[in-house]
Amino acid sequence: VMPILEQCYNLMDFEAVARKVMKKTAWAYYSSGADDEITMRENHSAYHKIWFRPNILVDVEKIDFSTKMLGTKVDIPFYVTATALGKLGHHEGEVILTRGAKKHNVIQMIPTLASCSFDEIMDAAEPGQVQWLQLYVNKDRDITKRIVEHAEKRGCKGLFITVDAPQLGRREKDMRSKFDDVGSNVQNTSGDNVDRSQGAARAISSFIDPSLSWKDIPWFLSITKMPIILKGVQRVEDVLRAVEAGVHGVVLSNHGGRQLDFARSGIEVLAEVMPALRERGWEKKIEVFVDGGVRRATDIIKALCLGATGVGIGRPFLYAMSAYGLPGVDRAMQLLKDEMEMNMRLIGASTIEELNPTMVDTRGLSMH
Ligand code: FNR
Repeated sequence: VMPILEQCYNLMDFEAVARKVMKKTAWAYYSSGADDEITMRENHSAYHKIWFRPNILVDVEKIDFSTKMLGTKVDIPFYVTATALGKLGHHEGEVILTRGAKKHNVIQMIPTLASCSFDEIMDAAEPGQVQWLQLYVNKDRDITKRIVEHAEKRGCKGLFITVDAPQLGRREKDMRSKFDDVGSNVQNTSGDNVDRSQGAARAISSFIDPSLSWKDIPWFLSITKMPIILKGVQRVEDVLRAVEAGVHGVVLSNHGGRQLDFARSGIEVLAEVMPALRERGWEKKIEVFVDGGVRRATDIIKALCLGATGVGIGRPFLYAMSAYGLPGVDRAMQLLKDEMEMNMRLIGASTIEELNPTMVDTRGLSMH
């Protein structure tokens, strides 16, 4: 029997339920990582290498963990990251995440490959609710330009260009499940016949341009006023180059371990990126986000101590949505808020501004 929602006490509990109740093909698509899934597992376990150095005797009666991301005030420093094919898990698809994000005043990043159309997701938002767009760059730049201009016109507040997926990774669980139902509305504008033998992900991604390069960044900056963020940066050199290229942010991410296996975790990369930015006095020039394996408020706090503006969370909300619909997403977000309040208190910080690198012990990370 399916556990009742009130018996989910943390984000991992939703995964266990989803695994039991989801269609096999959907579970395979959501849960899979690339190759041996070493990076996928490392993403969460990397957080276990960081320990806290709490401050005592700080007044923590009132806790405020609201913050700003790309100029938008949010209740808590996470956003719902872009994950394709929401209708595999729930018949209503991504709009469920839109409603959950509204309720908790967090931002949703809309995937290029959403099951709902972009406009359906924008229309599901309440007035004033902020959304971002994740962009897979099409070989046909006119199509890309139209998507970007339309997103800006509809009021999107950030353009996250995915840079870790010139080719979709091999996710063997997904390939084995012989995916046969792409969902309704996927924007595969290439017109190619899709090859379903390679799994869901590869079937829908043949339009992505593998020739995308640093040379294209000025063009993106010229076609939109939205802030541009590179999603999937994995080394300090590329963060510095992103600053020089004039983009507004980076997401230190390995795509949830779904692309290059043996990519390092985002949190590990963050620990090397922030000192390099501070050394140059560049830490205010760019907003640094991190995603992958964030499952606990303590994970969020660790990333913020190390200098991240915020973190993205993917699979947990997909699992909560697939198992329980909107009430599941609502509870998952509330659990994170409850964990956040308690752990901010226990670490001795009443606001996000008080979190700093002295509050974490990172000697367990491999950089040392
Ligand atoms: C993703 N991710 C992703 N990223 C992206 O830029 N475009 C996309 O279409 C997708 N699609 C997608 C589908 C599914 C099922 C997953 C699990 C992930 C990657 C996503 O934005 C993010 O980087 C990771 O999901 C973060 O890791 P966690 O929180 O899932 O561990």
